[in-house]
Amino acid sequence: MKTVLVTGATSGIGLVIASHLHENGFRVYGTSRTPEKHCKALPFEILELEVTSLVSIQHCIDTCLAKAGKIDILVNNAGIAVCGSAEETSLEQAYKQVETNFWGTVKMTRAILPAMRRQRSGRIITIGSLAGIIGVPYQSYYSASKHALEGFFKSLRIEVRPFNIGISLIEPGFFKTNLHNVFEYAAPAIADYDRFRKHALHVFSSSIEHADTPESVARIVVKIVNSQNPGFSYRAGKNSWIAPLLQFACYKLYESGVRGKFRL
Ligand SMILES: NC(=O)c1ccc[n+]([C@@H]2O[C@H](COP(=O)([O-])OP(=O)(O)OC[C@H]3O[C@@H](n4cnc5c(N)ncnc54)[C@H](OP(=O)(O)O)[C@@H]3O)[C@@H](O)[C@H]2O)c1
Repeated sequence: MKTVLVTGATSGIGLVIASHLHENGFRVYGTSRTPEKHCKALPFEILELEVTSLVSIQHCIDTCLAKAGKIDILVNNAGIAVCGSAEETSLEQAYKQVETNFWGTVKMTRAILPAMRRQRSGRIITIGSLAGIIGVPYQSYYSASKHALEGFFKSLRIEVRPFNIGISLIEPGFFKTNLHNVFEYAAPAIADYDRFRKHALHVFSSSIEHADTPESVARIVVKIVNSQNPGFSYRAGKNSWIAPLLQFACYKLYESGVRGKFRL
């Protein structure tokens, strides 16, 4: 039976991935910053993890290895989103965004690599974002954190191939999750941005609220895990092909579409 560790498995995309893998016969360990709140309600085991803490990361991986003996698959899913203009976002918020989404994911990956290298097998699947391929106004630090993941994992994929460790990234568009309910809003506000920010936040919240639930992302995870030779990048969700394609084929047309959507 394959063992999989899914970070941020208490809500949204991580919860659906962990539940789907559990239903499909995988031995699943999910994670949460507050496992005591969730462990009774979930069908898989929940370990404590705060991805911004190296101590917490090492403890989580050691606990998982002690319980299961090995970790075949890591799904890096935990993440947050800071929303607001780049100028309004405090440096503290910007650092927290990158610390969680980029460094948290990188630290988890670095911590699991020794075990996967020793066992000469493993799969690391990271939930990136469409915002890691295209620029998103009023989510510049979120977008930057996801772009950074693309560069890191593209490089790592080639380095760890000799050890039979597969690296893949899923780039979802909007999906209905809890993310918009825990958005961190840029502060302090600058009045010049009020009208634009208000509309941008409406676009984000209503796009997530009215999006599909993330079962298709979970199916992609299973497809990657079952593939002998998985690819690097997997798009998921509506418009996840068209926007990047347009960006590369005709940047001006792409940008005028984004400006129209965000009324900028
Ligand atoms: N929803 C979308 O439209 C969308 C689109 C593209 C990409 N994504 C990406 O998908 C991933 C999951 O997001 P979601 O939409 O499913 O959001 P969500 O419903 O808010 O779930 C986020 C998960 O991350 C965990 N988490 C947050 N901060 C953490 C931290 N510092 N340490 C450890 N765990 C932490 C939370 O667990 P606890 O609170 O229990 O600790 C929660 O389970 C993120 O990487 C996000 O960027 C989402």
